[in-house]
Amino acid sequence: MHKLILFASGTGTNAAAIMDWCKATGNASVALVVCNKEGAGVLDIAAKNNIPTLLINRESFRSADFVETLKGYGPSLLVLAGFLWKVPEAVVQAFPGKIINIHPALLPAYGGKGMYGHHVHEAVIAAGERSSGITIHYVNEHYDEGDIIVQAHCPVLPGDTPGALAKRIHKLEHYFFPHTIGYLLANV
Ligand code: GAR
Repeated sequence: MHKLILFASGTGTNAAAIMDWCKATGNASVALVVCNKEGAGVLDIAAKNNIPTLLINRESFRSADFVETLKGYGPSLLVLAGFLWKVPEAVVQAFPGKIINIHPALLPAYGGKGMYGHHVHEAVIAAGERSSGITIHYVNEHYDEGDIIVQAHCPVLPGDTPGALAKRIHKLEHYFFPHTIGYLLANV
């Protein structure tokens, strides 16, 4: 069975959607959740699903041991689901074409360092955009610049708050992220 390693440091709703999809389809299992934030909601979600977690700091993230630990799980894909640190070159090179990220906007717009979560939605609304969406893309050495796999759009409605837009974006993410993972596992 395909194994996934999730990298997540937020509330973990995308991680939960991926875990649910794994259970429902039996196509993959989540072998490990890597997290850089103590107390992050995703750690509780992993615990409830009996999935091991690895809490990292900047130093351990960049160590050669870390790459070896990841390799030890034999993952088919490394999935960034609300993970904000730039992935070290050594990790990118160890898993060519096997690391994907989800971004809550239509890249290349509203991407790059500092553009995450509510910051993205605030910027989209402030710019008067009429639509936004999600981007699922391969990870390379630069923030949000790897080749795009899938984008899905949604409207930005008059009077939208960042919170309202975030909800609409999360719905897209929870559907398209697991399904894109399924596509990649079956076809790549
Ligand atoms: C998601 O909306 C994801 O697109 C975003 O963080 C959120 C995590 O939510 N990622 C980025 O902004 C990356 N630049 P979650 O913890 O509920 O899955």
